[in-house]
Amino acid sequence: MASETLTPNPGTMMRAVVQAGFGDDGTYEVQSVPKPGLKDGEVLVQVKAVSINKGDWHSRVGEPGMVKMAVDVKAKPIPGHDYAGVVVEVGPGVEGVEAGDEVFGMCDRGAFAEFVAARETDVVSMPAGVTFEDAAALASAGMTAIQALRAGAKLEAGDKVCIVGASGGVGSFAVQLAKTVFDADVTAVCSGRNAAVVRSLGADDVIDYTEAAFTDVTPEPKYKTIVDLVGTTPVADCRAVLADDGSLVRVAFGEEEGFMFPLNKVLGMMARSMFTSQKLVPFFQEPNAEDLRFLAGLTEEGKIRAHTTSIEGGLGAIPEAVADMGAGRAVGKRVVRV
Ligand SMILES: NC(=O)c1ccc[n+]([C@@H]2O[C@H](COP(=O)([O-])OP(=O)(O)OC[C@H]3O[C@@H](n4cnc5c(N)ncnc54)[C@H](OP(=O)(O)O)[C@@H]3O)[C@@H](O)[C@H]2O)c1
Repeated sequence: MASETLTPNPGTMMRAVVQAGFGDDGTYEVQSVPKPGLKDGEVLVQVKAVSINKGDWHSRVGEPGMVKMAVDVKAKPIPGHDYAGVVVEVGPGVEGVEAGDEVFGMCDRGAFAEFVAARETDVVSMPAGVTFEDAAALASAGMTAIQALRAGAKLEAGDKVCIVGASGGVGSFAVQLAKTVFDADVTAVCSGRNAAVVRSLGADDVIDYTEAAFTDVTPEPKYKTIVDLVGTTPVADCRAVLADDGSLVRVAFGEEEGFMFPLNKVLGMMARSMFTSQKLVPFFQEPNAEDLRFLAGLTEEGKIRAHTTSIEGGLGAIPEAVADMGAGRAVGKRVVRV
């Protein structure tokens, strides 16, 4: 879709959030930095909105410790993954994207800026009739949700699916996708304050984890898939409410000290998996433009929608917005208009 509000920046500099190291305080600062240059096959996107992920918080504070090995803040000082905006320039060899196209996508850092360079193949046309904020919200969280649901048992209509952490960024998409793509019977696990939100997204049942552990309530029949976005419930307890041919897909692994975390949890699940008919899946999202197109299509058809909280203040609001993710209390996706 072509934009009518194309505002290319004629200068060579841009504003961006720059990460100086790991930690909560003083590690993010909005600075003036060079605009990214374009390589073959890349496009320059003027960022209109970004969404904030729990992963941004992990990358900022450097927890768990393994994150520090994976995130190179010197090589890639600008954080942020999810963006939506307008293409303002195309590099050599780009054929399928034009200046003026409205796109969204995710990148391996660099989104918390006025401009981001992205491979042509990594950007996806914005769904029609959707705001930049809603498109930015869709990227990592929507993709994680659909991939996690697919990673579990093959679902048939009416199968029981449990989403633990249903009110957060990933959960709010997982509830909708489990209903609309898999026609599942969805139990959402969240606190009572968010029960109305998850019901509005399509949950059939809600378990308030502040009243009872979801594993204290054995469904009939048992769950075919549990997508666990929190990761603090023991695997054995999850297995007790899971069908014999069911799947536990663990997207999060709780929070623990220790150099080996979460590798110890991942290896533990893989080892146990060898001795049971149940599928125990330590899950890691794989960025994929095809999935983004699939999610954009569902959005355009009105089958899913982002549940967003818009944060005012542009790039300057991002340091606090990311710090707030550490508390784990987000409802839906937090988005910032840039
Ligand atoms: N493996 C991967 O590839 C991958 C990809 C994306 C995300 N993740 C991880 O997946 C997790 C979820 O991501 P997200 O973006 O959805 O996080 P989020 O937006 O921060 O999720 C926050 C939500 O979790 C709920 N919650 C907290 N404790 C809960 C509990 N014990 N039971 C049920 N709900 C609880 C909160 O509700 P209340 O405030 O009402 O408690 C809040 O609505 C994060 O740990 C993230 O790092 C992993």
